[in-house]
Amino acid sequence: TWTTGNVIEEQVAAIRAQVGDKRAICGLSGGVDSAVAAALVQKAIGNQLTCVYVDHGLMRKGETEQVEKDFVAATGANLKVVDAEERFLNALAGVSDPEEKRKIIGREFIRVFEQAQLEILQEDGPEVAFLVQGTLYPDVVESGGGTGTANIKSHHNVGGLPDDIEFELVEPLRQLFKDEVRMVGQELGLPAEIVQRQPFPGPGLGIRIVGEVTKDRLDLLREADAIAREELTAAGLDSEIWQCPVVLLADVRSVGVQGDGRTYGHPIVLRPVSSEDAMTADWTRMPYDVLAKISTRITNEVADVNRVVLDVTSKPPGTIEWE
Ligand code: XMP
Repeated sequence: TWTTGNVIEEQVAAIRAQVGDKRAICGLSGGVDSAVAAALVQKAIGNQLTCVYVDHGLMRKGETEQVEKDFVAATGANLKVVDAEERFLNALAGVSDPEEKRKIIGREFIRVFEQAQLEILQEDGPEVAFLVQGTLYPDVVESGGGTGTANIKSHHNVGGLPDDIEFELVEPLRQLFKDEVRMVGQELGLPAEIVQRQPFPGPGLGIRIVGEVTKDRLDLLREADAIAREELTAAGLDSEIWQCPVVLLADVRSVGVQGDGRTYGHPIVLRPVSSEDAMTADWTRMPYDVLAKISTRITNEVADVNRVVLDVTSKPPGTIEWE
């Protein structure tokens, strides 16, 4: 019979058999899948695992702390946090095109992650031969079912390493669906904020600022997003809404009247959607009083924002994200 307890027991045994006394690396994204995969592997092999979290500065308010504090407290995992905010912001400077942003963020992410891997490889200890990934069953089916290896090429001029290091993959979630992964995560003691987290794109808030990404704009959007999330949770809407991107129209200004006079600020877009799989989506018919509360709070509490608008477009024709 399928129980989370059985799944955990089985996977722990399988991971131990696979990894033996070697070491493994796991990248944490802040998402559910990588967190649960890492927690499972941690349970199996303890300190033979090192987790790596790249802080690209594009996360939402509190998310990096969730990984740094709550994940570590719940699992006892070795965590290497790489603060790469400046590097990402420099690379994104002057860029407004969505695909260009995605490309830059993806490229920088791989570079920073590989650099962290190389540093771990150089530490004393058993051979680092495994890379943990949070691949789920639907991903396996979509990609044709193969298991694999991952290469890391040492194009970073780090001395004394082979030209090309190969990792064997550890994928303890390969037989699970998303809801099962959440149950396993809960059983492993991960906090609800991580286990029940709604989908969030890898490029983070970088693709929720329409226009150039800057530190000030990110800080502004983080505040607005935190308010929207807080009110949606308070209203009990988290399970009803698939996700609710909060978008800053950084290149748009409109006239408002706030406090003592005229303002010329930016609009914030709320994009609550209902969906089964993100392939299609409908805009969520949210209670007006919740929308009103979010709008009032954002315009009162977030400097430079004087308007909140609601996106009432389905997917198709609109995508869930604005970029
Ligand atoms: P769209 O905007 O294409 O989004 O309707 C569908 C789902 O995918 C997420 N999304 C991404 N996730 N990297 C990711 O990891 C990305 O570049 C990316 N773009 C969109 C989006 O949040 C939604 O859940």
